[in-house]
Amino acid sequence: MSSESVINLERRDDGVAIITLTNGKVNALSTAVLNGLHSAANDLAADLPGAIIVTGGERIFAAGADISEFGGPEEGAAITRKFHDALGALSALPRMVIAEVAGYALGGGCELAMACDYRIASTKAVFGQPEILLGIIPGGGGTQRLPRIVGASRAKEISLSGRQVAADEALRIGLADEVVEPDSLRDRSLELATSLAKGALVAQALTKEAIDRGLSMSLDEGLAVERHVFAEVFRSEDSQIGVKSFLEHGPGKAEFTGR
Ligand code: COA
Repeated sequence: MSSESVINLERRDDGVAIITLTNGKVNALSTAVLNGLHSAANDLAADLPGAIIVTGGERIFAAGADISEFGGPEEGAAITRKFHDALGALSALPRMVIAEVAGYALGGGCELAMACDYRIASTKAVFGQPEILLGIIPGGGGTQRLPRIVGASRAKEISLSGRQVAADEALRIGLADEVVEPDSLRDRSLELATSLAKGALVAQALTKEAIDRGLSMSLDEGLAVERHVFAEVFRSEDSQIGVKSFLEHGPGKAEFTGR
């Protein structure tokens, strides 16, 4: 199957890009979907939008790796590499990447949502890492991103049991950042994405970089990264505009150029 038929990338006039998974009824993350996600991320990196939404189907965001593609004992290394490459390219985009999760986000689907910077879920969303029920483990970043989001003990309990996590619990443990009624899901993700797309994009990119790099460092090393990017942001056009606008008109009035 070509990646065009399993992934749709829409670039809107308001600066928001929307990646939609359209791979049949369960949105399994097949090789074609992972290739499509990777090339969509490359496309966006080459011509950056203001913010990105990643979404799937109404009932199923994504049901995880395409189990029908699992081959023999030698396949594991190639599968996990494909996931890490595609989700890594998405997560490295220097813009806010918002997962809009309407329904089931299981296995690689949950890992895709966690590779995004922020998760807005509907009340019908269900998260989980059910790989253990197949006798395998999460290989799309789940062993690393889930504990960073919900803490090690909860991540172990979720991943070792393979149980499903409903939207209200996901919100409570921080796996979902917001939960809204299904009818309001697209409005809310667009509201956040369009407002970010109008913001100070250089500063947004540097903030994301400092947070993400800092998470894998000691506090002192992370603070060194912050000093570096803080010095860099002062050289941006947006910082000149933002400071001048604040002094002349007060906070929140600046119109940024994204440079
Ligand atoms: N890869 C490949 N095929 C999958 C799949 C996956 N990850 N998940 C579901 N399917 C297939 C089913 O085998 C079934 O195929 P069939 O119609 O030929 O019988 C079809 O999709 C529908 O699945 P079904 O379970 O009947 O749908 P449902 O609506 O009852 O449940 C889910 C939807 C997503 C909750 C359920 O399919 C599920 O739990 N999927 C597996 C999730 C998982 O373990 N992911 C980790 C993979 S390592």
